[in-house]
Amino acid sequence: MTVRRPTRRTTRPTVGIVGLGYMGLATGLAFAARGLSVHAFDIKPEIRAAVAAGRTPYHEAGLARLLQDQLRAGRFGVVDSVATLAERSEGLFLCVPTPSRPNGEIDLGPLRRSAEEVAEALRPVRGFRLVVVKSTVVPGTTESVVAPIVSERSGRTGAGLGIASNPEFLAEGTMVRDAVEPARIVIGTSDARSRAWLERAYRPFRAPVFALTPSGAELVKYASNSFLALKVSFANEIARLSDRLGVNVDAVIQAVGHDPRIGDRFLKAGPGFGGSCFDKDVRALVHRAEELGDRFRSGDAALRINDDQLAYVLDRVRSAVGPLRGKRIALLGLAFKDGTDDVRESRAIPIAEALFSEGATVRAHDPVAVENFRRAWTPPNGTGAGELVLVATVPEALEGADAAVLQAAWPEYLRWPGAWTRRMRVPLLLDLRRALDRGRARRVGLTVIGLGAGDPAGTPPPRPGASP
Ligand SMILES: NC(=O)c1ccc[n+]([C@@H]2O[C@H](COP(=O)([O-])OP(=O)(O)OC[C@H]3O[C@@H](n4cnc5c(N)ncnc54)[C@H](O)[C@@H]3O)[C@@H](O)[C@H]2O)c1
Repeated sequence: MTVRRPTRRTTRPTVGIVGLGYMGLATGLAFAARGLSVHAFDIKPEIRAAVAAGRTPYHEAGLARLLQDQLRAGRFGVVDSVATLAERSEGLFLCVPTPSRPNGEIDLGPLRRSAEEVAEALRPVRGFRLVVVKSTVVPGTTESVVAPIVSERSGRTGAGLGIASNPEFLAEGTMVRDAVEPARIVIGTSDARSRAWLERAYRPFRAPVFALTPSGAELVKYASNSFLALKVSFANEIARLSDRLGVNVDAVIQAVGHDPRIGDRFLKAGPGFGGSCFDKDVRALVHRAEELGDRFRSGDAALRINDDQLAYVLDRVRSAVGPLRGKRIALLGLAFKDGTDDVRESRAIPIAEALFSEGATVRAHDPVAVENFRRAWTPPNGTGAGELVLVATVPEALEGADAAVLQAAWPEYLRWPGAWTRRMRVPLLLDLRRALDRGRARRVGLTVIGLGAGDPAGTPPPRPGASP
């Protein structure tokens, strides 16, 4: 006789993801990878179809593999309606966009709509449900905007409904690792049941959990991104001073960052921060501080320095290349950084715009972001318009170039072979990331100008406000 052990009822929480963009998909897959059962929904049918078929709608190393594994394991599935999502998942994570408005405040339209849709879908559902705001929102939003919508529209109150904030800290380019192995989890709740649910959902991650109020959790996210943005801006100011002092910025930053109180991560000179989060989040906190009758001066400084850095980078290009009209410039790296196809707030856009406006022909390349760049690109108006050509290979970008500008440090660019240099009319690289090994550059006959002195070209840095 076979004795069957009683099967232990699984008490793992079920997760519902609303919005399968960069953040929502990675978050949902991380829960699945940690053994939770995840259902996911996106308002766009084409995104649902792609994800259900194991195709990620955007480029991120390791994500497609994770998706296929989790689909096969039956822990991750795509549903066709919010109603099904609400029926099957206890915790519903809102992962929809929160874009910037021109004045810096965030546009809560998509979040409100998704909260309304989820709330309506909750009406016929029985049992406890927790609505979690995972999108990045200014402090106060979960309690003063999302909670009233959800409780009114769902008709639920009290013990049957929880509302929480749970900001996400993953970064594009390292999303899979960041989501599956987060450094910390931040949750914001105002009732014990919601907090217990989230703690249980995150237990398999074995990461420290910081439990705050919803506004506190929301502020952690903005404070973190603002601090990181400030670190980048700080490094860029030190790079500019290094240029003027004739000091190598990498050596300085390495020594500064070695102080454990400071740390070297994100202390890296470059073209300034881009991407969908830093600029948007810092501007949102600056705006919120003003609404509160206060000031967020360090956030303001991070943004201003970032603007200055773009002007500085463009001045360096002009002083290295000379008048741009009729020049041919290869622009390498269109994504806001390597490792992603995201071009939101990419520095490649204003750089291409400036080169174009000043009459250059820009031959632009990226291993994965060309299509997104094409969609984001609007030729600037005005006289002196140059040309923008999107090309499929680096040699095509470099053909006859008067200079190349390295905007994103994709590994393939850093393997620069001699044949690439020979394609160029002038073997000059403006390495905005200080990424190409200088020994390699010498071997392949390339003159490199970076930011922060110590460049073999020895081109003097432009004076502030120097004209083309
Ligand atoms: N991208 C990141 O690296 C990152 C990191 C941390 C936090 N965040 C935050 O996460 C949020 C989402 O950012 P993202 O980059 O993933 O945005 P995204 O634009 O890539 O994705 C948003 C997705 O939501 C879907 N959507 C919109 N409205 C919907 C609705 N009502 N119902 C269902 N789906 C809907 C869209 O179709 C889209 O696929 C933002 O608040 C952002 O600040 C992003």
